[in-house]
Amino acid sequence: MQVSNSPQPPVVLGVSGASAQPLAQRALQLLLAADLEVELITSRGAIGVWQAEMGLRVPSEPAAQEDFWRQRTGCAGGRLRCHRWNDQAAAIASGSFRTLGMVILPASMGTVGRIASGVALDLIERAADVHLKEARPLVIAPRELPWNLVHLRNLTRLAEAGARIAPPVPAWYHQPQSIDEMVDFLVIRIFDVLGLDLAPLNRWQGPPPDRRLAP
Ligand SMILES: Cc1cc2nc3c(=O)[nH]c(=O)nc-3n(C[C@H](O)[C@H](O)[C@H](O)COP(=O)(O)O)c2cc1C
Repeated sequence: MQVSNSPQPPVVLGVSGASAQPLAQRALQLLLAADLEVELITSRGAIGVWQAEMGLRVPSEPAAQEDFWRQRTGCAGGRLRCHRWNDQAAAIASGSFRTLGMVILPASMGTVGRIASGVALDLIERAADVHLKEARPLVIAPRELPWNLVHLRNLTRLAEAGARIAPPVPAWYHQPQSIDEMVDFLVIRIFDVLGLDLAPLNRWQGPPPDRRLAP
């Protein structure tokens, strides 16, 4: 048996066309700040949401896109490889390419539906399909409100196939004082599911003594 000494394999981050793109940007920033290697796929839908919500044009060409993300995150660390949304020949489209796992943040209902149906039209869907077939961690953070029965069934199907469903649902128990703190909570909790502790978090230790319910 050959045992490899290679460094930690990369994390695949799929960003699809749902609202909540600041979560994707913060995730990328924390991954790079942790000096991790990131394989990034930004879907065509996500590029459309950046345009519509922020008035910003995300380049689809990898080199220009890397410049864009480096500038947005203000982070020069880690290793970042950007992929064109439909590059089915990318290394991450193959199960032979080793990864730590994949997170889709945010996940649009279109992407969820296509992965649940085994339809790999774009690279996010193909990479997700590969993670499922290789039984590697796949974390999906679906963003839609409300969910219809088709969404719920697709998410159930993905959970049955081995994906972990981690919707970006905020909490108040960590006493957030700003939207940034809420964003950090969501991103850190979603990457908890992958087993990565991306940044310190005010994790629940039980209520302080003056807030405990009287017996
Ligand atoms: C501004 C904007 C916000 C959107 N927000 C969502 C959303 O939160 N959830 C969702 O499922 N689709 C959302 N959509 C629709 C998707 O972007 C659309 O279905 C797209 O085709 C998804 O492409 P993708 O799955 O390849 O990324 C949004 C579209 C726009 C323009």
